[in-house]
Amino acid sequence: MFTKQFDRRVYVAMTVFCASLIIGTSFGVYILWPSRREAGYMPSQPIPFSHKVHAGDLAISCIYCHSEVEKGPHATVPNLSTCMNCHEHVQPVDENGDRTEGMELLLRHWTDKESVLWNKVNDVADFVYFDHSRHIHAGVDCTECHGKVEDMEHMQRAFGLKMSWCLDCHTDPPKESDPAFARGESRRAPIHCSACHR
Ligand code: HEC
Ligand code: HEC
Ligand code: HEC
Ligand code: HEC
Ligand code: HEC
Repeated sequence: MFTKQFDRRVYVAMTVFCASLIIGTSFGVYILWPSRREAGYMPSQPIPFSHKVHAGDLAISCIYCHSEVEKGPHATVPNLSTCMNCHEHVQPVDENGDRTEGMELLLRHWTDKESVLWNKVNDVADFVYFDHSRHIHAGVDCTECHGKVEDMEHMQRAFGLKMSWCLDCHTDPPKESDPAFARGESRRAPIHCSACHR
């Protein structure tokens, strides 16, 4: 019914159409995927660990568990021996007197010597230089970047980790607690590119 040439044109058009659809969709997904630097990202975790219980109700210091946060670039997540300092003795039970599901999971990992693979919540692009200790020593509070962790039953990302987020704070006029205030500077922190792209 159609000439050969016409058929070929249809094939070419279809191929181009499909290819651009696939490329376009993958690009869209890559840009819009919620795990990519967006606020509110809340991955599931292997053990239901509650910051509200531990950092809120029990008021355990952040640094007790995130012990490297003042010392270097990474805050680090504690290993199970830190948890077992308490949970060797404290093992909450449900109304039937059985250990709760969360406790069972924790103890099973501990006795099997299986490390817990927590899913990362905050993740800055690898080509960006970020250092916790610089911020902690400058007196920036955890809540300024992680929100009200003490109220979080399930950890979530408080702010989108985009360049504009870093820059918005760095360009703010210094707070009295900032080292930049004492130095009489007009912004909280440097904004030259090489500060974060080394
Ligand atoms: C009893 C130990 C403990 C205490 C105390 C604690 N944390 Fe955590 N924190 C953890 C564990 C375990 C994880 C990993 C599981 C999760 O994300 O819920 C975590 C995860 C986090 C994360 C997300 C890490 C990521 O992947 O991006 C942030 C941010 C955080 N904690 C901040 C805080 C702050 C701020 C405080 C104090 C207000 C605090 N934590 C107190 C144990 C603790
Ligand atoms: C300083 C002591 C302490 C440390 C350290 C600690 N916990 Fe707890 N945790 C408690 C106490 C006390 C409770 C019980 C709170 C309650 O029932 O009100 C609790 C409750 C829990 C529960 C809830 C049990 C349930 O289902 O009701 C889980 C799960 C848990 N902790 C996991 C962890 C993990 C994982 C770590 C290490 C990252 C950790 N804990 C570190 C003291 C601690
Ligand atoms: C200036 C903002 C800022 C402050 C202040 C800050 N954090 Fe973070 N935090 C981040 C960013 C950004 C990441 C992601 C880092 C990455 O991907 O390398 C992160 C990641 C983390 C992680 C995951 C492990 C890691 O190092 O990647 C934990 C745990 C954490 N922060 C805890 C804390 C605690 C506890 C405090 C306060 C003592 C704190 N943070 C203060 C911005 C901040
Ligand atoms: C809530 C405010 C705030 C946010 C958000 C923030 N910073 Fe900062 N940053 C500061 C302050 C305050 C200093 C300390 C400056 C000083 O020591 O005088 C600082 C210092 C730094 C330094 C050291 C600069 C130097 O060379 O002296 C780097 C690098 C840096 N921040 C990177 C980042 C990156 C990357 C992000 C985003 C992922 C970020 N910061 C988000 C407040 C912030
Ligand atoms: C305070 C820290 C900071 C400073 C200063 C900074 N950047 Fe960035 N930059 C970031 C972060 C964080 C990202 C990652 C953004 C993401 O993952 O969406 C980024 C990403 C980028 C990208 C990749 C494209 C994008 O937006 O994701 C380019 C290009 C870039 N920066 C250029 C620059 C240039 C040019 C300067 C100087 C004018 C500069 N940056 C200064 C933190 C910074």
